[in-house]
Amino acid sequence: MARIADWGGHDSGYGSVLVRSQHRSINQPFTKRLIMNTVTILLSSFILSITGLFIFIWSLRKRLFDNTAAAAYVIFSDGEIGRGEEPAATAAQLEGMRQQVPGQARAVLTAAQETTLARELEERVEADRSTAFVSFVFLSCAVVWLVVGSLAGLTSSIKLHQPDWLVQQAWLTFGRIRTIHLNIVAYGWAPMASFGIANWLLPRLLKTPLVGGRYAIFGCMLWNAGLIAGVGCIAAGISDGMEWLEMPWQVDILIVIGGALMGLPLVYTLQARKVDHLYVSVWYMGAALFWFPILFFIAKLPALHFGVEQATMNWWYGHNVLGLFYTPMALASVYYFLPKIIGRPVQSYNLSLLGFWTLAFFYGQVGGHHLVGGPVPAWLITLSIVQSIMMIVPVISFSINQHLTMRGYFSKLIYSPTLRFLVLGGMMYTLSSLEGTFEALRSVSTVAHFTHFTVAHAHLGLYGFFTMVMFGAIYFVMPRVMSWEWPYPSLIAVHFWLVIIGFAIYFVGLSIGGWLQGMAMLDASKPFIDSVNVTIPFLKSRTVGGSLMTLGHLVFAGHFIAMALRYGPARTGAALLHTGVTASATDQLAGA
Ligand code: HEM
Ligand code: HEM
Repeated sequence: MARIADWGGHDSGYGSVLVRSQHRSINQPFTKRLIMNTVTILLSSFILSITGLFIFIWSLRKRLFDNTAAAAYVIFSDGEIGRGEEPAATAAQLEGMRQQVPGQARAVLTAAQETTLARELEERVEADRSTAFVSFVFLSCAVVWLVVGSLAGLTSSIKLHQPDWLVQQAWLTFGRIRTIHLNIVAYGWAPMASFGIANWLLPRLLKTPLVGGRYAIFGCMLWNAGLIAGVGCIAAGISDGMEWLEMPWQVDILIVIGGALMGLPLVYTLQARKVDHLYVSVWYMGAALFWFPILFFIAKLPALHFGVEQATMNWWYGHNVLGLFYTPMALASVYYFLPKIIGRPVQSYNLSLLGFWTLAFFYGQVGGHHLVGGPVPAWLITLSIVQSIMMIVPVISFSINQHLTMRGYFSKLIYSPTLRFLVLGGMMYTLSSLEGTFEALRSVSTVAHFTHFTVAHAHLGLYGFFTMVMFGAIYFVMPRVMSWEWPYPSLIAVHFWLVIIGFAIYFVGLSIGGWLQGMAMLDASKPFIDSVNVTIPFLKSRTVGGSLMTLGHLVFAGHFIAMALRYGPARTGAALLHTGVTASATDQLAGA
């Protein structure tokens, strides 16, 4: 294990490369090890893709992946189209949602359809009830990590323009607190939120109560114990020395076992499913739950990867965890919640399938774009750039689909608090991915790589896209989980505006500052310190934006706690689906 140096550098992985390369050159011929490991990496990518292909063929044979447009309707009960579901809306907002779309009058149901709808809603209530406690535990952990992680991020941000602030304690120095921030958001907030939503959503989609929820709870405890220990190690200066993989591998064993237990109920529920067709969200979530353990396990195997190969493996993991875990989890949520809220199936189911399979086939090889200009074989980098450009296909498939599904329904954004987060998050997926595609080009990477521009992009993806979608999903899910409405609806709007304005300041300022920093570094006539000075106003603006975001998170957390404690007026409107009074439950669906 390496000890983290207490300096403020942005770790690209090259530091450990140099030290380890020297060590390796004493022991083994460089080229032999390099060839072995690049072959291993390619082989793993190949096996991953081929496995995906076999699952694809198998699913086609089993007709699980029925690619007709009718498949888009499976998340609706008979007669439910045209009636949105928005548990976070107040009675007045639901009324507004009902009135908005001209020409989309709510269909009058026959008595038989009413009975079917009531029965299906009852099944949904049952599925929701089976997941309530499990989802609540995961989402509560997520909220705690969100707040702690944001405070660590804010502290790191202030330190970049006030370097003498909080320097007495080693664990508060930039090198450690930044790493603590990253690990908390990456392994605390993001997976806890994802599992909270997945545990709630999959039983609904599979029309089956959650099976084996206690495994998830036990796994969640182990995972969190591992994370606390891992963050403690980083604070103490003990680390495996690779970005995104800093927690010592001994501690990661807890996370691996915890993660496996957390995945079990989802597998059992899949086996017990009552539906023939698997909606596209199931595919995204199921695949993410299959990919993540493989990635984490391979990347964390100790004493296997050294030097350049270690850096290559580091970034094979680094971008795959973004693209094959967080991204599909968030996309699955958008594909379910967005049509549900507006009461309209996704415009093109085939596009959603195209998006899924192209993401599965192209994302696996993009990791090399983090090492452009590094001591890595040029062909490997070129392959990653080509695949980064190919990623335009799944991204555009999603964007067109979201836009066409929302067309004519944009006015609902005024009334639905949940939809705002989801639609904006979806748009930021497009933006972050297209920006990423350009960042992967050698010409752009030359300017952007060692700068704050990359950090701005990182937050556009993991905050603007992923976190926004999770906020929307949590606002939808919690009233069903708690059988209680959000106690103070105006706080949802306060949260939204704080994080949106804060993030805009964060992203725009840091992108400009990062670009100017890169240009200054490339200008041989300028001393290096110029490239540092030019960023100072932008680093300060990041602290302003980050403070607003953190404030927004505190508002969100306070509201979450108030809901958990059942504060606020006892209203039974939108959360009514959960009371079992299904006769009037149909009335709680907002006519689109
Ligand atoms: C087609 C899609 C995408 C491509 C091609 C892409 C490409 C890139 C590139 C080239 C970098 C900079 C590497 C460097 O110079 O250091 C990067 C960094 C990053 N990207 Fe993306 N990106 C994409 C989508 C996303 C999404 C959807 C997310 C979030 C879910 C995301 C999160 C990040 C993060 C967190 C980093 C910083 C990693 C680090 O240095 O710690 N990206 N991406
Ligand atoms: C859930 C919310 C957040 C997520 C998911 C998130 C994610 C990330 C990620 C992935 C990185 C690594 C970026 C890279 O190395 O390229 C990072 C770094 C950082 N984040 Fe955040 N972040 C969040 C909130 C915040 C907030 C509220 C602030 C407050 C200003 C903040 C400030 C920072 C700073 C200062 C760094 C270090 C940048 C550097 O190394 O130069 N983050 N964050």
